[in-house]
Amino acid sequence: MAESRTYQWWQREDLGYRENELHFAGRKVAALAKQLGTPSFVYSAQRVKANLERIQQALVSAGLESTSSLYYAMKANRFAPLLTFLKQTGLCGIDACSPAEVEHAVSCGFAPTDISFTATSLSNADFDLLARYDGVFMDCDSIHAIHSWGKRKPGTSIGIRVNPAVGVGRASNDKLQYAGSVTTKFGIYQEQFEEALAVAHSYGLTVSKIHFHTGCGYLTPQLAHWESVLETCLWFIETAGSVTRVNVGGGLGVPHLETDTPLDLDQWAGILYKHFGTRGLHVEVEPGDYVAKDAGLLLLGKTFVEQKRDKLFVGVDAGFNIAPEPAYYALPFQPVPLNYSGEPCQATHVVGHINEALDVWYENAILPDLTAHDHLVLINAGAYSSSMASNHCMRGQFKEFLLF
Ligand SMILES: Cc1ncc(COP(=O)(O)O)c(C=O)c1O
Repeated sequence: MAESRTYQWWQREDLGYRENELHFAGRKVAALAKQLGTPSFVYSAQRVKANLERIQQALVSAGLESTSSLYYAMKANRFAPLLTFLKQTGLCGIDACSPAEVEHAVSCGFAPTDISFTATSLSNADFDLLARYDGVFMDCDSIHAIHSWGKRKPGTSIGIRVNPAVGVGRASNDKLQYAGSVTTKFGIYQEQFEEALAVAHSYGLTVSKIHFHTGCGYLTPQLAHWESVLETCLWFIETAGSVTRVNVGGGLGVPHLETDTPLDLDQWAGILYKHFGTRGLHVEVEPGDYVAKDAGLLLLGKTFVEQKRDKLFVGVDAGFNIAPEPAYYALPFQPVPLNYSGEPCQATHVVGHINEALDVWYENAILPDLTAHDHLVLINAGAYSSSMASNHCMRGQFKEFLLF
């Protein structure tokens, strides 16, 4: 059934239709698809930089100019040209979560002292490798990790990742929460904290940082709840007694739907200042999604259009295995045609080429008739897509390009 609804809420200065043709980062997307082939991820260097600058500016305006630092969470997107570019901007360090990520960040130009490390379930081999990188700052997320690091680096400073047992994530999406009523593997709980401090002291370690990351994708409506997470974490800061820095993790979200309210960064930074700035604490933030997600598109080739029973399907030449968030976390990646001149739209199911029931890109996407189109793009594919890709069904091939 044709509808006159449109789907263009996602348009912005560097992404949208000009004379009916989709443009991104100063290029015609149709020309990119033709030249680069599909499936390809394209990332806008300028958008990544602008996203970081927006966060930095909000922190500065809130009064945290000389007392805040950004560490890009490279798990979101580790494409080497992107990391090298980020190093050149001088805007951020790196949040790494595995020894291989540390090695990769260093190979892209970051110094070990630019790296804040937060991970879970590390082996002895992992600790040995990390200990070779002098200057990497370790946030320990278990008492076991404090022992392991203390043996290797006695007398140094560490952070403790805590679990405040309250979490925040994208509206009503529990899959994106790392802390809450369900006990998780992440961080040290309040009832373990005294023991954690005693273990740290037994190795002469100074606990100079409290770290917490309690969920992903929060937007303005979740800020009040996010503030209550911060308030809960004050107990850890005060109890440790030696803390000068607080790392609030990542989790800053971007809109995925027309109905999403974008994150009000000034309000967000004001909350940080109110609780931590006024206490003289240095604030660290580890954004991944907010930096990279809306800076990336996934270019796809159309494979078929077919009505099956009550549903209109459009197939594309890539599946959920190269961008798993829609399937794993129910995060919709809006499909967008390469040209659009106001024709009526209809509900369309966009599906991939993997033999799994999970392989649905978008249900009921409001799209024009795509019969005569060769391509389609998915927006918000810049984070947790290529970095989480697998070779399922031996369909793991894709290309990546950084656009300047
Ligand atoms: C410890 C830690 N910091 C930062 C991040 C980045 O989160 P996001 O990409 O939602 O900003 C994550 C994501 O899982 C994380 O686990």
